[in-house]
Amino acid sequence: MIKLDNVYKSFGNNHVLRGVDLEIPRGESMVVIGGSGTGKSVTLKSVLGLVTPDSGTITLDGEDVTKAERDAFLARFGMLFQGGALFDSLTIWENVAFRLLRGSLKRPKTEAREVAIEKLRRVGLKPEVADQFPSELSGGMQKRVGLARAIAAEPEIIFFDEPTTGLDPIMSGVINELIREIVVEMGATAMTITHDMTSVRAIADKVAMLHEGVIQWTGPVSEMDTCGDPYVEQFIHGRAEGPIEAVR
Ligand SMILES: Nc1ncnc2c1ncn2[C@@H]1O[C@H](COP(=O)(O)OP(=O)(O)O)[C@@H](O)[C@H]1O
Ligand SMILES: [Mg+2]
Repeated sequence: MIKLDNVYKSFGNNHVLRGVDLEIPRGESMVVIGGSGTGKSVTLKSVLGLVTPDSGTITLDGEDVTKAERDAFLARFGMLFQGGALFDSLTIWENVAFRLLRGSLKRPKTEAREVAIEKLRRVGLKPEVADQFPSELSGGMQKRVGLARAIAAEPEIIFFDEPTTGLDPIMSGVINELIREIVVEMGATAMTITHDMTSVRAIADKVAMLHEGVIQWTGPVSEMDTCGDPYVEQFIHGRAEGPIEAVR
């Protein structure tokens, strides 16, 4: 469904992506792992057409993402941003229904609110939070709201950028499980980027390891522990010694 073919992207002398090849079949959950600053977010933004590659192609159902009509293209995606990224001046339900209140997905306000409350319930939040503001909720609850917003328009494809960053291990586990359940129940195609190995094991069908601008290894999550790839091995065990040089 999503295909990256020999994608390059530099920012000045910072050569971030140096020939990324990646395929995500429809209905599968792909998790891209890699250290901080390796280009995971740049990869995700490239698929969304928010970053334009210097060379190489990215296609969605065979269509070049840089040539797609923006509104219709973005309507197919749901996105959980790193850090939640809720609008602090909007209520919780207005955050969740954000895309249902404007643009091509626009619906009447009462209907949008009903959908928001239903999605809040799906992520384990009571209807009472609907009229509160993000600052009134805990970090874990804000992440749930972000997740409810990502699924509000029932997208075919959902992107999760570091879904557990900033959460304690128990809340991370809850969010990981919720993501997995929702992706399965919606039959959505999912791409998650993370450096959290517990997320990988909870969410992934397939894993791809990004390092030094290329995908070093990709395969089913069941093969990750025994793949023998030195980069993957070092990363999953968090070892200081290995081919990945730690910046000290
Ligand atoms: N818009 C931008 N302009 C300049 N440099 C950028 C931009 N976006 C990302 N970078 C750089 O690209 C590299 C990869 O960033 P990113 O994809 O955010 O890493 P991560 O793997 O942690 O998500 C970093 O060195 C970052 O500073
Ligand atoms: Mg990132």
